[in-house]
Amino acid sequence: MYVCHCNVVTDRDILESIANGARCVADVARETGAGRTCGNCISSLRDLVCQHCPVRAERRTEPDAAEREVGVAGAAR
Ligand code: FES
Repeated sequence: MYVCHCNVVTDRDILESIANGARCVADVARETGAGRTCGNCISSLRDLVCQHCPVRAERRTEPDAAEREVGVAGAAR
């Protein structure tokens, strides 16, 4: 299933990124390119990271410093 239509990134791509060590939305964005254009997929990215990242058990509502630093689209919303 496509999560980021702008950059043609699927849920499998995101899960693979997490399996390879991504621990936040910024890591996934850096590795896959997801979330760096219109930002409409950020909440879906965040949900996947929260559901599947071993160190992200709780859902966050605010972007962290790393997300703002790499310029993930929508991080400042
Ligand atoms: S849908 Fe992901 S950046 Fe636009």
